[in-house]
Amino acid sequence: ACSASCPTDAILMHNSTDEQILAQVRAATEMKSEFPLIVAFLCNWCSYTCADLAGVSRIQYPTNLRVIRVMCAGRVDPEFVLEAFKGGADGVLVAGCRLGECHYIFANYSAKKRMEVLQGVLEDIGIDPHRLKVEWISAAEGERFARSIESFVDELKEIGPIGSELLEGHNDG
Ligand code: FES
Repeated sequence: ACSASCPTDAILMHNSTDEQILAQVRAATEMKSEFPLIVAFLCNWCSYTCADLAGVSRIQYPTNLRVIRVMCAGRVDPEFVLEAFKGGADGVLVAGCRLGECHYIFANYSAKKRMEVLQGVLEDIGIDPHRLKVEWISAAEGERFARSIESFVDELKEIGPIGSELLEGHNDG
């Protein structure tokens, strides 16, 4: 959590450095073969396990996700989310353990606050804040995970491809 919020990037997390995660984000957005493209940051302990459970339980959900596994939702630096949008992602999902159940005590509360601030920043820079979805989910909720992805895909289809809101603003102005 400290590594994600350090203002001078002085805190380095071994095997999960900013550069390593940013490289994954760039790889995830390199090829855009479907709409909407969603970059999903999933915490190792709950949401990643939950996505895995959905898979082994053969619960179907849209294939639009490009998953990046992080140790905790608290590890998600706003820079990662912005890089995903810059690369052309139509949506970003940050999913971690249910509030109060984070394996790093209060780190998901920090993530929640950070993502709320980021949603405000997105609005300020002309990106629809609904493109950033935050979800708190337990490892046992495969079905809920799948339904949540379905509804996010539908929402993004309504909003349109990344950049469409900027074009609309341009046409209005
Ligand atoms: Fe899952 Fe912190 S360990 S959100």
